[in-house]
Amino acid sequence: QTYRIAAIPGDGVGAEVVAAGRTVLDALAADSAGAFDFAWTEFPWGCAHHERTGRMMDEDGLDRLADFDALYFGAVGWPTVPDHVSLWGLRLRICQSFDQWANVRPVRFLPGVRGPLRAADEHELDWVVVRENSEGEYAGLGGRNLAGRGPGGEVAVQSALFTEVGCERVMRYAFDLARTRRHRKVSSVTKSNAQQYGMVLWDDVFRRVAADYPDVETESVLVDAMAARFVLRPQDLSVVVASNLNADILSDLGSALAGSLGLAASANLNPERRFPSMFEPVHGSAPDIAGRGVANPIGAVGSAALLLDHLGRPAEAARLERAIAATTAAGVLPRDLGGTATTADVTAALVDHLGDA
Ligand code: NAI
Ligand code: MG
Repeated sequence: QTYRIAAIPGDGVGAEVVAAGRTVLDALAADSAGAFDFAWTEFPWGCAHHERTGRMMDEDGLDRLADFDALYFGAVGWPTVPDHVSLWGLRLRICQSFDQWANVRPVRFLPGVRGPLRAADEHELDWVVVRENSEGEYAGLGGRNLAGRGPGGEVAVQSALFTEVGCERVMRYAFDLARTRRHRKVSSVTKSNAQQYGMVLWDDVFRRVAADYPDVETESVLVDAMAARFVLRPQDLSVVVASNLNADILSDLGSALAGSLGLAASANLNPERRFPSMFEPVHGSAPDIAGRGVANPIGAVGSAALLLDHLGRPAEAARLERAIAATTAAGVLPRDLGGTATTADVTAALVDHLGDA
């Protein structure tokens, strides 16, 4: 079987980590005795494309992506283009147009990685953050200069959109996921004491959905308290479901607690499979280290494992996860994890460890 994958490396370290992920995926395919392979098409979109054409992606870009089996994305953003223009022009445009409403972000300790919390037991941090990815605070609703006042008096509004359908589907996704895990628990995060409309709707829907899953433990936690809980009692959490902004922030915190933002993987899923889903590391384009060959490719390679899972290849996904753990356990660590390994060194170790199992 040949999987058609669109690679969109984007900007900065995006290109470096997508190349690493492709190398590892191709090595897996080469070792599959012809069972599967990948046909890659690369799209050179991003901020350099914007400088040439005035657009982050081609005008017919979404049409050209629509028929792929999956999208493999690096990162977007460079100082030459305002961040809200680059993000909305490429990444958010794809997520919203392809209705990728569930953003799944696993976080866990890896052997040999010493994060700020690092405790002896590897099971002490093993979560999946499920992020509502289509509405909430990133619905793009609002405007500037609404009162027509000049400089110094400008008024801007940024609204959040919460729909019952949008809340319910991402919560059901979180509960179904919790049922597949060792610790069957879903923690819902809001700020419904201060944001009394959308987030109170969220809480109401959560209570209603939870009633359909009596076998799953639940709790509702305010986001500020949850930030503290992440640090103080990580072992209490399993699946965390939250709105677009809250989950965005919490998942960066989670990956830092696991050791580095460079480790964090994510899947932007259209669970109905009407459109392709997109797999990408959580981190951005990291202009501060881009072009030096030192970016950590593990977040991108972990995203490739999520891609394999989505393609219906869980055994290969697990093999990739084992190769990641074997690589960090062997002490092949890039700079963000306190080591000296380059992107190429880590990639070579990952490919070597594919042969372990
Ligand atoms: P960032 O994630 O690019 O970098 C934050 C810090 O983490 C930096 O110190 C960076 O060196 C480090 N880091 C990130 N990825 C790493 C990796 N693979 N290996 C080692 N270290 C790594 O976030 P920042 O600096 O806030 O944003 C930079 C640009 O990226 C901006 O233009 C922003 O808009 C964009 N961005 C794009 C995202 C996406 O495409 N999904 C997500 C977040 C930011
Ligand atoms: Mg983020």
